[in-house]
Amino acid sequence: MTVMAQTKAEIGVIGGSGFYSFLEDVTEVTVDTPYGTPSDSLFLGEVAGRSVAFLPRHGRDHRVPPHRINYRANLWALRSVGVRQVLGPCATGGLRAEYGPGTLVVPDQIVDRTLTRKQTFFDGVTREDGVTPNVVHTTFADPYCPVGRGVAMKAARDHEWEPVDGGTMVVIEGPRFSTRAESRWHAAAGWSVVGMTGHPEAVLARELGLCYTSIALVTDLDAGTETGEGVSHTEVMRVFGENIDRLRSVLFDAVAGLPGAEDRDCLCTHVHDGWDLGIELP
Ligand code: ADE
Repeated sequence: MTVMAQTKAEIGVIGGSGFYSFLEDVTEVTVDTPYGTPSDSLFLGEVAGRSVAFLPRHGRDHRVPPHRINYRANLWALRSVGVRQVLGPCATGGLRAEYGPGTLVVPDQIVDRTLTRKQTFFDGVTREDGVTPNVVHTTFADPYCPVGRGVAMKAARDHEWEPVDGGTMVVIEGPRFSTRAESRWHAAAGWSVVGMTGHPEAVLARELGLCYTSIALVTDLDAGTETGEGVSHTEVMRVFGENIDRLRSVLFDAVAGLPGAEDRDCLCTHVHDGWDLGIELP
């Protein structure tokens, strides 16, 4: 009997720092896009009968820093293999003393403090394939999928890992960590966690009509909240490593709990109602 290699997936998981593989039995698929090359191949497999595409956000060897990730290519590649719902686990710093290492936050807001990133598909600029997208202004008041957030929180609770329900992730340009002054400013503004990759990943997912859920694992207290030497990459990787098994289990359950593609009816699916995009989505 010939077994056909998997070429499609309905759910995407984008793994961050310290998270370079998800499933054991995978088909590696290389995808090129009109926006260039994704961070790595897509690794297609199955969880609980659901087809999943895993993409290591920084590449499997962590070769791509946050500001050089081709976020457009990553999201486009996922959609082009059929993905309609995306889970985005990431490492973050806690901006409140009570959000120490090991806290899981399912944010409901983003503040963008990045500087150089391409954050839209709809910029009116002719692509290399000669196609010109229209200019589109995307509604983004609620940046994350409400259904995906609920599913992720239930999955965490089922693993006795009480998540923080909501909060704001401020996304900095990186690759350096914040100064103490920047960090105190972020905390004083009332923001919850700080990361380097949550934007423009979330908005590009929204532009493609994908449901996107951020799952932020706190790996450290950020420089303005802690009293030690400041955050180090080694510390981030160590704490992520300590939590990766239970995070993977939460993600497995979240994948299993997401609605079927035909049952999606959240705001993410209606974002382009009434717009002429000028391009075909894959
Ligand atoms: N990722 C993990 N910890 C971080 C921090 N403190 N700041 C920005 N990104 C992070």
